[in-house]
Amino acid sequence: MKVLVINGPNLNFLGIREKTIYGNQDFKYLLSLLSEKAEKENITIDTFQSNSEGAIIDRIQEAYFDGTQGIIINPGAFTHYSYAIRDALATMDMPKIEVHISNVHKREEFRHVSVTAPVCTGQIVGLGLSGYILAVDAIISML
Ligand code: DQA
Repeated sequence: MKVLVINGPNLNFLGIREKTIYGNQDFKYLLSLLSEKAEKENITIDTFQSNSEGAIIDRIQEAYFDGTQGIIINPGAFTHYSYAIRDALATMDMPKIEVHISNVHKREEFRHVSVTAPVCTGQIVGLGLSGYILAVDAIISML
């Protein structure tokens, strides 16, 4: 089983950016959680992070050809306005889980809208980094 985890803009700055919202753990720690999970479940978890919309779309399109069976995506701020990422996700006929570390519904109004969630299977919001692990479990149970 092969799952792709995509992180969008500024998520590489975990542990540096707005720690009261996103916590103290850094991006490397998130990657280590995912690689431990992959080992435990005996699956492949590929990870990708970019601050660029186009690079994220290119990676989603690549997943069409590379045997990816499920996608976990935290599109960061692109969540709220990227119709281009939404269209790329809509093309992918596989389980897709949108993850947000923070509870976007408790925050500014612009974060209450997700243009990408309607083309995803489900969404996990506000559970911190463990949201990514729960998303892996959800994809495993769906496949
Ligand atoms: C986020 C929430 C977004 O509103 C924000 O722009 C992010 C992170 C989250 O994981 O909580 O960059 O996606």
